Amino acid sequence: MYTEKINLQLFDAVITSPPYNIGKEYEDVKPLKEYVEWSSDWLNNVSKLINPCGTLLLNLGYIPIEDKGHAIPLSYLLWDKVPLYLNQEIVWNYSAGVACKNFLSPRNEKVLWYVKDKTNYTFNLDLIRDQNVKYPNSKRKGKLRVNTLGKNPSDVWEIAKVTTGYNRSSNERTPHPCQFPIDLIDRLILGFTNESDIVLDPFIGSGTTFDSCIRNNRYCVGFEIKSDYCEIAKNRIKDIIETKQQLIPIKYKA
Ligand SMILES: C[S@@+](CC[C@H](N)C(=O)[O-])C[C@H]1O[C@@H](n2cnc3c(N)ncnc32)[C@H](O)[C@@H]1O
Repeated sequence: MYTEKINLQLFDAVITSPPYNIGKEYEDVKPLKEYVEWSSDWLNNVSKLINPCGTLLLNLGYIPIEDKGHAIPLSYLLWDKVPLYLNQEIVWNYSAGVACKNFLSPRNEKVLWYVKDKTNYTFNLDLIRDQNVKYPNSKRKGKLRVNTLGKNPSDVWEIAKVTTGYNRSSNERTPHPCQFPIDLIDRLILGFTNESDIVLDPFIGSGTTFDSCIRNNRYCVGFEIKSDYCEIAKNRIKDIIETKQQLIPIKYKA
């Protein structure tokens, strides 16, 4: 009998945005307790697949809870259901969205950044530096004070949502109802993974994680329950690969 232990800690990172249990077309709303248990279960299972220096980036929004609150951050319910070290919370601030009259208009979601080993993890500071520098030429003793690649990034990221509509639809827009903006996922991929890393997205949707991984030379494995979204992701992957091949200079082509 074959008894050698197989190493299942295959993934360098898990990057995902799960269903929020808010009645989107791809989910049946579960009782809250059941949703938290389901989330806990998949978070525990994927955490086991991450390698010892790996990372989990979990994008979460808000849900209404009857008689408790109008918009409860999902991170309040799930943050300690991940058996990893919570390194930091990133606030993703998007500039436009629904305008509310009786509440403040919602303009953020969170990305929880977990690591398996709090002393050894990937963080590529220089690849995600903030170009928005107020005084780029400011000097001290004749030397530039600010890093020419940009200033150190903060934990608040301003990135527009993927929009729909006549004359305002994002270039990357697919028919998927809850698509990650490519600028957000690119920043996560560049900042928290390395070239040739293997990334898992258990809720791939329109395939944004695939898109970013392919363009940034990472491998990606993903799961999606709805066949029409798989089709969207498949076509997107095909387009990205074709575009990437066209960008390879002719002399390097086989
Ligand atoms: C928030 S969306 C992800 C969107 C994705 N980040 C993108 O950029 O398009 C969540 C996705 O999870 C899928 N999903 C829901 N339950 C699932 C399950 N049990 N296994 C795999 N995918 C599932 C939904 O169909 C939906 O496409």
